[in-house]
Amino acid sequence: MSQENRRRFLQFLAGSPLAAAGGALAQVLQPGSRLSDPLMWAPFDPAKLIKDPKQAINVFDFEPVMRQNVPPAHFGYMASGIDDEVTLRANREDFLKFQLRPRRLIDVSKLDMSTDILGTRYPSPIVVAPVGGQKAFHAEGEVATAKAARAGNHLMILSTVTTSSVEDVTAARGASVWYQLYATNKWDVAKAFVTRAERAGCPVVAVTVDRSGGRNQETLFRLQRTDTRDCNACHDRSSLEANVRRRPMYQGVDLSGLRHTQASAMTWDFLKRLRDTTKMKIVLKGILAHEDAVLAVENGMDGIIVSNHGARSEDSGRSTIDALPEILQAVKGRMPVIVDSGFRRGTDIAKALCMGAQAVCVGRPYIWGLGAFGQPGVERVLELLRVELHGIMEQLGAPTVKHLVPAMVRRAGAAPSY
Ligand code: GLV
Repeated sequence: MSQENRRRFLQFLAGSPLAAAGGALAQVLQPGSRLSDPLMWAPFDPAKLIKDPKQAINVFDFEPVMRQNVPPAHFGYMASGIDDEVTLRANREDFLKFQLRPRRLIDVSKLDMSTDILGTRYPSPIVVAPVGGQKAFHAEGEVATAKAARAGNHLMILSTVTTSSVEDVTAARGASVWYQLYATNKWDVAKAFVTRAERAGCPVVAVTVDRSGGRNQETLFRLQRTDTRDCNACHDRSSLEANVRRRPMYQGVDLSGLRHTQASAMTWDFLKRLRDTTKMKIVLKGILAHEDAVLAVENGMDGIIVSNHGARSEDSGRSTIDALPEILQAVKGRMPVIVDSGFRRGTDIAKALCMGAQAVCVGRPYIWGLGAFGQPGVERVLELLRVELHGIMEQLGAPTVKHLVPAMVRRAGAAPSY
């Protein structure tokens, strides 16, 4: 590079957002030092947040807007992992452990992403994961999410700790939703939730089996301290009963003897009892070990969701995309396997589908959209994921979801199979 070119180049860099990246730049540009390759020419610029969902280029564009709109304690609740948040990072980073193997010269001009999910056909395998308390992120909460799910015809799973009733959400979705169960310590409470969900038309109950212990949500606690509002003005912490009473699913339920919203005593016996109580299909949410997946088959479960609860349960350090292959191998197609936790890109979803997952649930990204713009934000997040998945299916040479096969994904560094 001539002296003049170098001078112009440095001038250009000084005016670019890279300059804001700090003094490290000056060091990087010392004569004789090497630039990284590729250079990041368009890094995220916090001064230029999107103002309209249509401006979003990817799902990540929504999170900083949500951070701006939503009180710190509520944002912290959404963002938090556990302890050192190793699992939170692994859920993202481990997608790099897997690579896609595209095939060529296949007609993908009429691509069809439709998928059968436990007996119902949806236009895509992208599922709206259960997330509790959505009015903490936007005044319309789960109803806005349900309307967005309706716009893209996505399966939606509704949390037990929803801030809108299962009846209202089903009406807004315009179709039945699945019901996610936090069983509590008391059978009669779980039974009341399930009976109500079944009456509202839910065809499937997703029983959460991965929340039996305490958790240290450091990001939540730190952000809570920065929130100047009085939390007690909204959250009645005088007793557990008073606290949960505000949640629609708890209303009208006898809560005497309720000691915990989770079910730390739950065993396979609970599922036998549940099977005798409801005609809904039963799916276990939170399976991470192949041994438990096999037990789920042997205990007659209708499906499992491989999940680490969005890294919100324990800081195991293991991502779900890493756990998925061993589980699929053990299940051997005997029941549908769905997966969630950390999915943000069409390629993430494609990797899981190639491995053999039937569908992929997405949580935080649509909550970013909700907190940023309400229903239109959720719609755009789901649209971006559909567009990305569509694009990668075309590239992989997969005209339908069934054409996404294990040979199209490999573990980086694994011995070649040919
Ligand atoms: C609830 O599902 C939570 O992780 O907070």
